[in-house]
Amino acid sequence: MNNNGIQGRLPLPRVIVGCMRLASGGIENATRLVSQAVENGLNFFDHADIYGGGESEKTFAKAIKNAKISRDKVVLQSKCGIVPGVMYDFSKEHIVRSVEGILSRLDTDRLDVLLLHRPDALMQPEEVGEAFTSLYESGKVGTFGVSNMNPMQMQLLQSGLKNKIEFDQIQFSPVHAGAVSSGFEVNMETVGAADRSGGVIEYCRLKGITLQAWSPFQYGFIKGAYIGNPSFAALNTVLDEVGKKYGLSASATVAAWIARHPAGIQTVCGSTNADRLLDVKKGAETVISREDWYRIYTAAGNILP
Ligand SMILES: NC(=O)c1ccc[n+]([C@@H]2O[C@H](COP(=O)([O-])OP(=O)(O)OC[C@H]3O[C@@H](n4cnc5c(N)ncnc54)[C@H](OP(=O)(O)O)[C@@H]3O)[C@@H](O)[C@H]2O)c1
Repeated sequence: MNNNGIQGRLPLPRVIVGCMRLASGGIENATRLVSQAVENGLNFFDHADIYGGGESEKTFAKAIKNAKISRDKVVLQSKCGIVPGVMYDFSKEHIVRSVEGILSRLDTDRLDVLLLHRPDALMQPEEVGEAFTSLYESGKVGTFGVSNMNPMQMQLLQSGLKNKIEFDQIQFSPVHAGAVSSGFEVNMETVGAADRSGGVIEYCRLKGITLQAWSPFQYGFIKGAYIGNPSFAALNTVLDEVGKKYGLSASATVAAWIARHPAGIQTVCGSTNADRLLDVKKGAETVISREDWYRIYTAAGNILP
């Protein structure tokens, strides 16, 4: 059986609800969050087997039950492949066993999207292909993708798969814009010229792979929010100015910045605050001008040669 593309099968909202921090806010907050999210059309949820050591998926399942939301009203995405602090594991056995765990914690019989969380140097594409085919044919997973992969890794993996790689989830924001900077600064000696992602945005556009931006409001490797942070004063000034023009908050303006890229990048918002989530959605639905996109890009410290 061949799974040829998600067009028309899955809704692709501009904002995905990231559930990495869901358990930390408690069940009442989680129930309010999923309830308000789904009511307002945010029905695509991002998980991973390792978030909260599995507690995030369990909290989500309880919250959905409390909120009386039926399974067919939500799109569930989760990830596997990381054995925390030990290794990455794309063996067939690990992938299949991980999905069983995810399904059990999410209290469902099917996952809409499975992503491989981080590239495993020891991966055998055909072995991953066997795992995906068996999960797809048994109805346990509908769609597949990856996270933190560059184009060559995706091509190598795809060579062993019957199912198309539909998603690549990468870190992306004005303060983590290397995937764009390396394009502006091609063949230069500047910091931004370093090609750390291998032209991932161009590749995904060419192949019809949907990009998802993780930690869109965090700087560094999930070090804290840069919005309202005095260390990012110039960026915040411009976010406030541009936001004012469109009636958006600074976070919503970042979502508008991500959505403005023609690659159709989805913002994976990890807020545990339902109001903030809806605010970010409003931003992602707003089209900012080319000039404003570039203003935000340079205010974040990126250069235009
Ligand atoms: N594929 C991967 O390798 C990978 C890695 C990391 C994360 N992810 C995914 O990406 C999602 C988002 O990641 P994340 O939670 O680190 O990033 P985020 O959405 O950039 O940050 C959200 C966190 O920042 C706080 N925050 C403070 N001020 C904020 C503001 N003005 N606007 C927005 N948030 C603000 C939020 O607090 P409140 O809760 O109080 O709003 C929340 O704790 C995760 O849930 C997960 O699904 C994937």
